[in-house]
Amino acid sequence: MSRERMEEYFQATIDADQKIEPKDWMPDAYRKTLIRQISQHAHSEIVGMLPEGNWITRAPNLRRKAALLAKVQDEAGHGLYLYSACETLGVEREELLDQLHSGQAKYSSIFNYPTLTWADIGAIGWLVDGAAIMNQVPLCRCSYGPYARAMVRICKEESFHQRQGYEIMLTLCRGSDEQKAMAQDALNRWWWPALMMFGPNDKESTHSEQSMKWRIKRISNDELRQRFVDMTVPQADFLGIQVPDPDMKWNESTGHYDFGPINWDEFWNVVKGNGPCNRERLKARVQAHEEGSWVREAAMAYAEKRKQRAEERARVA
Ligand SMILES: [Fe+2]
Ligand SMILES: [Fe+2]
Repeated sequence: MSRERMEEYFQATIDADQKIEPKDWMPDAYRKTLIRQISQHAHSEIVGMLPEGNWITRAPNLRRKAALLAKVQDEAGHGLYLYSACETLGVEREELLDQLHSGQAKYSSIFNYPTLTWADIGAIGWLVDGAAIMNQVPLCRCSYGPYARAMVRICKEESFHQRQGYEIMLTLCRGSDEQKAMAQDALNRWWWPALMMFGPNDKESTHSEQSMKWRIKRISNDELRQRFVDMTVPQADFLGIQVPDPDMKWNESTGHYDFGPINWDEFWNVVKGNGPCNRERLKARVQAHEEGSWVREAAMAYAEKRKQRAEERARVA
């Protein structure tokens, strides 16, 4: 088959809403785009463990501790599904981790902000996992099979994360004045970074159009952001706290909330590595990787031993 015919067949498969699987032919650019996106996503899951892991030992009671511990472990699991999905595209996990550790690969900027109080754990679950769900639900129908299937399970777990966060906020907002003030302060600090999670405005977004055609992406950044605002503002109202945006108001004619301009200088600054915690996060990841090397070596040695034993048994039999 000529290259042109293969490309036609590939696009027709996508247009018919059929999945592309690892052994199918695919254009190099499609493969590269997916490797970039899935690996960035995987990195975000495991770097995302750090700001919250910081509060496991300081959770206010056993129930909160157990829920937070489970949530942080889920994020590690999400990272694993996604690295595995990425490996089906013919890239080694070691290579992906090297890119993260050398600062070459990106991950979601939101995890470069510090978690200053317990209310931040509530705000992260509510807003950050909430924004993640908004972004990720459409990915369950992404054209690449292994990515789409990983997202189905991830999204189910994200919805538990979002609820546990909102429940923390609700408890604080029904508590003392100090607790409510703590919840408001966390909302003030996490609101704008959460809106930035949807990425640049559509007209500035470089990869979007092609990704739409390939059905890797199905809904634009601005539309997802608007959906998130429309869903979240009534939740803040229910809590009795306010989003830190003087321009936020319901627009009767559009049926959506209008909101103020996002500080994109801050966004790009954090993306470029100058957020409040970029260096700290990378350092913690590199250290965890180095300290975990004995576990990987032991697991490899054990797998090798089992393989040899199985071969011996096969020979005897
Ligand atoms: Fe996750
Ligand atoms: Fe999550």
